[in-house]
Amino acid sequence: MAHTDSARRRLLMTTGALIGGAHADATLDLPDIGLAAAALADHGQLSDAEPNCPNLVVELLEAVDLPDDGPGRAVLLALRDAAPVLQWIDPYEDRPDQTTLRAGYFVTVLVGDPVREASLTFGSDASVFITVQAPHILYPPHSHLAPELYCAVAGTAEWMKGDGPFEPKPPGSWMVHSPWTSHAMQTRSEPLVALALWTADLDCAVTLED
Ligand SMILES: [Fe+2]
Repeated sequence: MAHTDSARRRLLMTTGALIGGAHADATLDLPDIGLAAAALADHGQLSDAEPNCPNLVVELLEAVDLPDDGPGRAVLLALRDAAPVLQWIDPYEDRPDQTTLRAGYFVTVLVGDPVREASLTFGSDASVFITVQAPHILYPPHSHLAPELYCAVAGTAEWMKGDGPFEPKPPGSWMVHSPWTSHAMQTRSEPLVALALWTADLDCAVTLED
């Protein structure tokens, strides 16, 4: 249990350091990122729910290149240790038609809205998610009411926003999605590990545009 707690706490700490660094960098201009920094700094007790980690998540985290960038590198190392003792969710379990996406896209919630059932910790001001996407998977265009900040932690995927083209974003890139802005991610030969932050309307649903 002590080991489990230390791995999970190290993940929260390294993620908090990455977000805190981005918050301190005014050139990034990330709206309301301070809410996510505070949510991580201020988190409550760790969940005692049973872990649930697909083997593929462990394989993808080992396969993705360790970034050179300091904060992202620390997050990936902590995530490799903590992944087996986290709860990984399938956010599209209500979409049996999304077979390909669901076989290669996994989410774990580090700070969740109290209405969310599976989360490592809970908070009401921001939600913090880690996503893992297998190679050659399209996360199709989708949108939601919640304003969102994304950081590519490891792996270079192609990202699409609004009417724009798919563009490769290397580790360390930040993406800003205002409410109901369509966005999509296409992985190529490598997995993608990303950090997603919601800073309002935490209980909203995601709409896949298909
Ligand atoms: Fe999103």
